Amino acid sequence: MNRLGRLRLAARFASGLYRERAALAWAGYRHRDPMSRLRLRPGRENPYAVYDRLRAAGPLVPTRAGGWACTSYRGCDAVLRDRRFGRHPAEDRPGMSFLGLNPPDHTRLRRLALPAFTPKAVARYTARMERTAVGLLDEAVAAGRFDLVSGFAGPLPIAVITDLLGIPDSRAGDFARYGRAIGGSLDGIKSVRHARQLLAARADLRQLFDHLFELRRREPRDDIISHLLAAEGEQISPREMVPMCNLLLVAGFETTVNLISNAVLALLAHPDQWRALCADPEGLAPQVVEEVLRWDPPVQRTSRIALEPVELEGHQVREGQQVITLIGAANRDPAAYQDPGTFDITRTGGPPHLAFASGIHYCLGHALARAEAAVALRLLAERTPHLTRSGPVRRRNTTIIRGPLHLPLTTGHPAPVPVSTG
Ligand code: HEM
Repeated sequence: MNRLGRLRLAARFASGLYRERAALAWAGYRHRDPMSRLRLRPGRENPYAVYDRLRAAGPLVPTRAGGWACTSYRGCDAVLRDRRFGRHPAEDRPGMSFLGLNPPDHTRLRRLALPAFTPKAVARYTARMERTAVGLLDEAVAAGRFDLVSGFAGPLPIAVITDLLGIPDSRAGDFARYGRAIGGSLDGIKSVRHARQLLAARADLRQLFDHLFELRRREPRDDIISHLLAAEGEQISPREMVPMCNLLLVAGFETTVNLISNAVLALLAHPDQWRALCADPEGLAPQVVEEVLRWDPPVQRTSRIALEPVELEGHQVREGQQVITLIGAANRDPAAYQDPGTFDITRTGGPPHLAFASGIHYCLGHALARAEAAVALRLLAERTPHLTRSGPVRRRNTTIIRGPLHLPLTTGHPAPVPVSTG
């Protein structure tokens, strides 16, 4: 395509994007359409109030886009588990491998990646997580103040996944930068500049992966990329390699950071529960992680397409119609949980939350994310029990992904060092 052709294409893309944004703002602010508000500032600041409004209209409500939005736990869980729902066959999220695929390709590729993410495999990485977290906290404690997101919650999952994939230390910074650009697009493209950055990041990341594949073909190691390359040709085709690595690199980037950050926000807003965690960090950290995943999940919604007509929550969903499963709403469904709006780390009962979805696309990295967050919270409680907020929280400019962009903290007094009397 020549320069003029490219310019025309860019202009058409830009006008489409801005028209869509204007229509969204009109529907959300002028007509107070809840699904539009969810994608605007009100949804960013407090999606739970929007979910309550939606829920009042029923468990499954039609959207302006011609699909449905589901607020009930029962409905969301059913959609995510039901094989009559799936990904749009033609949708394939560019470069996102099996996340965007239906069986049988989904099954084949997921099976290949699975061994690296089992709870047993994850247990092997705990020492590495602890080392990274301790190093980051040492710096924070020495400085007395830090930004939780950029100084702790962000770098930890990035260090872990680059390590698992076997990305050389010298390139880890580049991988992280490109991965962050691609991870940030999970929420949609915000502007023409954003689209351009994304395309450039994709191309650079592809180049880096191609180079790494060459290296590992020559000299395999005990890392995920070497294992995938060993299966190349049989279980995975060469053109499926880069999307698979993209997915594994990026899926944990913009999610685990928010799990840790949302947990700290919730705990500091509920000081009695922070004190309880500080009194028993090892015992309570995993429970805190589960309650945060339910109460303020990092991924607020996903969607499926009906692959055939399905009856759902008393409505007929037509083939090809989209159902948006509102994970954040399902996790606070009063029909599923007692006092669903209460953050309670001692909570018992209720079904498993949907923060990692359900069914065949259930998050492959759940054990890794849980372990990273538990290590992070345990160490924070042990090392910085006097943690306090020291400035305003700025939220991410995203609505599918929920979490703070900045969370300034002070570490307060240093943790007392246990004195051995023996
Ligand atoms: C708190 C952190 C995380 C959350 C909340 C989260 C959430 C989710 C959700 C909701 C899905 C399902 C998406 C859908 O069905 O539309 C998913 C899928 C997935 N996640 Fe995670 N995730 C997290 C961390 C991770 C990590 C650390 C990894 C791995 C490095 C990972 C890898 C994946 C993969 C590969 C899929 C696709 C699974 C499939 O399609 O079969 N995730 N995640």
